[in-house]
Amino acid sequence: MAPLTSFASFDALFADTPAEYRQVFEGRLEHFRSQLEAPMRRLYGEREDFDHWLQRVVDVAASAAAERHHDLRVLDRQRLEEADWFQRSDMIGYTCYVDRFAGDLGKVVEKIPYLKELGVTYLHLLPVLAPREGENDGGYAIADYRRINPQFGAMEDLRWLAGELRRNGISLCLDLVCNHTADTHDWAIKAKAGESRYQDYYHLFPDRSLPDRFEATVAELFPQSAPGNFTYSSEMEAWVWTTFYGYQWDLNYSNPAVLVEMLSIMLDLANLGVEVFRLDAVIYMWKRLGTDCTNQPEVHSLLQVFRAILKIAAPAVLLKAEAMVTPQHLAKYLGLGESADLECHLGYHNVLMVALWASLAKGDVTLMGEILRTIPPIPAGTAWISYIRCHDDIGWSALEGTEPTEKAGGHDLLKELSDFYAGKLDSSFAAGRSFQVAPEHDVHGTNGTLAALTGFSEAVRLGDKAEIDFATRRILLLYAMIFGFGGIPLIYMGDEIGAPNDETYRGRSAEAGDGRWLHRPFMDWDAAEARHGPTTAQGRLFAGVQRLVKARKSAFALHAQASTRVVETGNDHVFGYLRRGARGAVLVLANFSAQPQTVARACLDQLGVSRQVYDWISGTTSCPDDSLCLEPYDSLWLEAANGDETGT
Ligand code: GLC
Repeated sequence: MAPLTSFASFDALFADTPAEYRQVFEGRLEHFRSQLEAPMRRLYGEREDFDHWLQRVVDVAASAAAERHHDLRVLDRQRLEEADWFQRSDMIGYTCYVDRFAGDLGKVVEKIPYLKELGVTYLHLLPVLAPREGENDGGYAIADYRRINPQFGAMEDLRWLAGELRRNGISLCLDLVCNHTADTHDWAIKAKAGESRYQDYYHLFPDRSLPDRFEATVAELFPQSAPGNFTYSSEMEAWVWTTFYGYQWDLNYSNPAVLVEMLSIMLDLANLGVEVFRLDAVIYMWKRLGTDCTNQPEVHSLLQVFRAILKIAAPAVLLKAEAMVTPQHLAKYLGLGESADLECHLGYHNVLMVALWASLAKGDVTLMGEILRTIPPIPAGTAWISYIRCHDDIGWSALEGTEPTEKAGGHDLLKELSDFYAGKLDSSFAAGRSFQVAPEHDVHGTNGTLAALTGFSEAVRLGDKAEIDFATRRILLLYAMIFGFGGIPLIYMGDEIGAPNDETYRGRSAEAGDGRWLHRPFMDWDAAEARHGPTTAQGRLFAGVQRLVKARKSAFALHAQASTRVVETGNDHVFGYLRRGARGAVLVLANFSAQPQTVARACLDQLGVSRQVYDWISGTTSCPDDSLCLEPYDSLWLEAANGDETGT
């Protein structure tokens, strides 16, 4: 192994810090240097200047480590000692837009009591860094990574907010939009002005020959509103790779300078108190001709570099992969086998999310069971982000092309689901809308808030009490599924009070062209007041969510280290999974149909229960005889009641 660095080069960086800071840093560097160097070598080892780039990465780590604030060092230590902190059953996540939830960063602090009322311990703020003017994909087109969106405040406000959240037991998660910048980012501006150094930050092509060859195998993300993957820049007389919108320029990670920039941005944000990074659109970070340019091995090497540098400079911090992929690729982002502990700590379980919606529409859980069984168990130090929906559409492609989906009807099934949630079928209770469908591409995604997609909004509008009850049950069923599943469950802002679709986006020019704004409503704090009313629809929903949160926090066995195994319930309408680990075992049963269902008592054998079971959700103990009965859309989290474990 080449000498990594002369430790003397750290003298200046650590000159004004206590000696201990440098010792800790050098210790970590020594310990983790191979975890940093190996993926760097896989990515850039062929280059003659490899040593230079490795040194640059180490310098970035050293400079961040020298600047890390005392409070965050304390956090680093705590988290190293309690490495499972994010896997515990008391973790509850919430995700929101700063402006839509509170106004600005300062006002988010004022909403901490609300978050605590709900039991939140993890807050993902959707993009807060300075975006391009005008259209910016909800902030996912960043013009300056070192400035906060001026509407939301300044970097110091972010530091303050992170500290306040931390003091209240809430970890701050921010997006690191690492796949692309805005076309108005300084690097892009310099590239347009002809600076070759910055042109090398992007993927540029002088003519269509290579873009056309890539297009033959690469899918389109927004086939309706941004077809194709390349955008012509008249300034450079070149085609730029733009996976998403034309104003989002994909970064070229085969240039190590790009990686160094992004690592430095990440560590500076970590030093402001960010505890989790949501690595946006990671699957697209490496391109290879002849492939679909997603999930390339180099993407995993890049993530391993991100992880290693955090271990060295800010070990309290977690990485979360936003990898919206099919089951075949999903778990790899959490590291499998030899790369366990080397990639992301967290990953969105988009397959579960999409399968939940499929099961709810069909009232049948066969497909979900079969598809989840194909996903390998994840490493012990990782966890899923389990969620019902997020700010993006429900992307049906997560199920596409898998054997279970083909068996269940393939494309026709996906089309049926898309139509169901767009309210086009007689059987539908949903009022969503299809996203990015075109004549030659009739299934893509579905938009709509949780309340709209479950029939809650419409029932409330009509004042139909029976339907409100049904819709509330559907929502709580979905929450019970994700709260039990393992990992950090994520509530999307407003869903807990049944926020309806927001049609007003059509009147805002930067949003009108993107149907996802339908399900990104502003928080209606007046409506939220109704959560205190025990008889209002919102009040009953909110209380139901709170009840599940409390149950989840108390059910220690739901810790993310417990395995999650899909179990046979003998009833196609009832989904079952067993969580089993060092803290006990919980059997989750969930009835996805509008009729009462029964499950044979033998199902409880999996818990090793001979007599009594305790249901964490209802807080009751029972002695089921021949069968267990589940009301419409009901769920149970069953654990052997005290003294009734037969030890199997
Ligand atoms: C992620 C975001 C999505 C955005 C895209 C491009 O998928 O969740 O909202 O459009 O990345 O940044």
